Amino acid sequence: MDTRLLPIDPEKFSEEDLKQAANLIGQGEIIAFPTETVYGLGASVYSASGIKKIFQAKGRPMDNPLIVHISSMEMLNNIVDEISPNVKQLCEAFWPGPLTILFPKSEKILPEVTAHLPTMAVRMPNNPIALKLIDLAGVPIAAPSANISGRPSPTTAEHVFHDFNGKIPLILDGGPCFVGVESTVIDVQRVPPLILRPGGLNFENLRKYLPNIQIYDKIIPNEELEARPSTPGLKYRHYSPTASLILIEYRLLGIEQPILKRLDELIAQKSRFGYIHTQANFTIPQQYRDQLGDFFIDLTYPDSEMEVFQDKVQLHSHIAQHLFSTLRKLDDQKVEYILIGGISEDFEGLAVMNRLRKAASEIL
Ligand code: TXA
Ligand code: MG
Repeated sequence: MDTRLLPIDPEKFSEEDLKQAANLIGQGEIIAFPTETVYGLGASVYSASGIKKIFQAKGRPMDNPLIVHISSMEMLNNIVDEISPNVKQLCEAFWPGPLTILFPKSEKILPEVTAHLPTMAVRMPNNPIALKLIDLAGVPIAAPSANISGRPSPTTAEHVFHDFNGKIPLILDGGPCFVGVESTVIDVQRVPPLILRPGGLNFENLRKYLPNIQIYDKIIPNEELEARPSTPGLKYRHYSPTASLILIEYRLLGIEQPILKRLDELIAQKSRFGYIHTQANFTIPQQYRDQLGDFFIDLTYPDSEMEVFQDKVQLHSHIAQHLFSTLRKLDDQKVEYILIGGISEDFEGLAVMNRLRKAASEIL
């Protein structure tokens, strides 16, 4: 199968540009499209063959449910019987945006979409191409991230092409995703509500609306989490580059020394490795930068500026935006190891650390 990459300018495109994509969805095909978080691999929630193709193309375990993407509240009303005032308030506050909310599953949606769970995860993406595509298709679109299962999620059309060339008919190229990590998934069926997967929506923002919300992997011990995950996606290895990822956990008293020590060891071993710098409060000495060359990637500077980020919210959102693409970039350079220092778990740091811990093969 030939995979077509179709460039679409998110700021000015015509319906015509998206008709072909919408038709493919209508015919039970799968296509890749941009969202504000990561690229999605979509099929109609009413097409059994489309849904099957998603699982096959990704190599995704059948017990890991998909997120249902909608483009309007009208579409939500079509598949949900009742929306409580609290949940309605969340939709109004954060949609379109990187928040996925669990609802009781609609009879209308194929059971394969939710992996036979009684709940269904729904979100309205904040991307004009995605919204228009869903609109034109006229059906909710089930879409996981458009990566081969286990790989870092795709934040550009090229990443999708890398994973799915020859396997899907069409990739809509709307440029890089500006959030860069997947949506925050919350279970509001539970009391108190629970974050199943931290993501692109700030915990701090969410807490303004749900003051007693808890975080799944912070309240459930590890062993139990492994044995009985309530969000199936949690039990699989995830987001991993081909290189072995070494994570130095964030330490309040500073992680400069542990990072430099591990850098020294990798250099002494003569390893081919990359280093991703995420600490705005110290710089890595020039000798290491010289040694690493292109394999030194600094995420502490705003694009095309000379000053490091002063604001932690901005720093964390920049790291989130570039995390997956940086892992993929170093992978392309065939490094054996990737070293990265952890950040504090606030703002998007919560999602970043969640992804890094799942992706890491060594945590110090
Ligand atoms: O930002 C995103 O959410 C992206 C874009 C494409 O929208 N999508 C995405 O989908 O990340 P995926 O399939 O890679 O991750 C969906 C996560 C999985 O961890 C899955 O287990 C969880 O959502 N999930 C989906 N439905 C669920 C349900 N009914 N109950 C619990 N967890 C659910
Ligand atoms: Mg995924």
